[in-house]
Amino acid sequence: MKLLVTGGAGFIGSHFVLRHVAAHPKDTLVVLDKLTYAADKRFLDSVLEKITFVEGDIADTKLVRELVATYRIDTIIDFAAETHVDRSISDPFPFLHTNVLGVASLIEVCKAHPSIRFLHVSTDEVYGDLDDDDPPNGVGDPLRPSSPYAASKASGDLLIQAAARTYGIKAAISRCTNNFGPHQANEKFIPTVIRCALLGKQIPIYAEGKNKRDWLYVTDHCDALETILTIPWAFDECHLFNVSADSEKKNIDVAKAILTILKKPESLLSFVKDRPGHDWRYALDSSPLRKLGWKPKVGFEEGLKKTVEWYRKRFVG
Ligand SMILES: NC(=O)c1ccc[n+]([C@@H]2O[C@H](COP(=O)([O-])OP(=O)(O)OC[C@H]3O[C@@H](n4cnc5c(N)ncnc54)[C@H](O)[C@@H]3O)[C@@H](O)[C@H]2O)c1
Repeated sequence: MKLLVTGGAGFIGSHFVLRHVAAHPKDTLVVLDKLTYAADKRFLDSVLEKITFVEGDIADTKLVRELVATYRIDTIIDFAAETHVDRSISDPFPFLHTNVLGVASLIEVCKAHPSIRFLHVSTDEVYGDLDDDDPPNGVGDPLRPSSPYAASKASGDLLIQAAARTYGIKAAISRCTNNFGPHQANEKFIPTVIRCALLGKQIPIYAEGKNKRDWLYVTDHCDALETILTIPWAFDECHLFNVSADSEKKNIDVAKAILTILKKPESLLSFVKDRPGHDWRYALDSSPLRKLGWKPKVGFEEGLKKTVEWYRKRFVG
């Protein structure tokens, strides 16, 4: 394959790049990343000689066109996004730029190269939230985004679905639950809990911490994307895939599990005013992808220990 990986210096993208280079050393891999606050190019240090790294914006259609032509790209995997819900609430415009216009730009390039396969990485947040007794979302469920972030991701998904229908581009969309693991930006929930715990600072928990998220270890997500790339019909008619490890946890329980690993007291937990529009619960039905051969390998406790260890080194050396 000749892959263009957008957002490859971010959390999930960097894991995908490292794993893909190790597993498929003969593939051509071009990473396009704007290097926002969420990126860290050093994650790619060990493979920089084996890939081409380009700093740039997916919304720069001319640049994407040049990369696709120069490297004869046959597959685009799109991780590039603005991803922090809290930031989207204070300023949605960067989210519209990358998650909507950026996606539109990638579509433009795919229109001009109809053989390119475009795998867009999306989120469970596009479905909106669930009540405790609702079944997990299936891919046919309506989109009911709650935050500007989720609305921008839903917009990107809809643009791609429309482009597949109208222009016949070869696209697929994967929607995954909350990822965890090394390389995530420090301000996200799990890194924040670990950082505050290590520094003995109060750990901010929205409301009473009872909101539930469904946790997926980042390398299991990367494996799911690799599985999608092997499905011959995945890019016909814009197939949608949910990716979930069926590992629902209340936020408060995740924070307590981290405190247990770090042997820190629960008195560090500090309940703060809830996020506006805070989704109550997400859960996805990923049985169709499991029937095609993917299953998560890393359990929540095992993944959390690995994650805490990585951040312990990052924050305190
Ligand atoms: N992390 C999660 O829990 C999670 C859950 C569901 C879905 N997702 C989706 O997975 C994808 C990757 O998420 P992540 O957590 O790795 O994100 P991240 O914020 O860690 O990384 C995003 C990367 O995209 C790059 N980027 C941002 N704007 C860009 C632009 N205009 N052009 C080029 N590069 C740009 C950033 O520099 C960064 O390297 C996103 O689409 C996100 O919506 C993430």
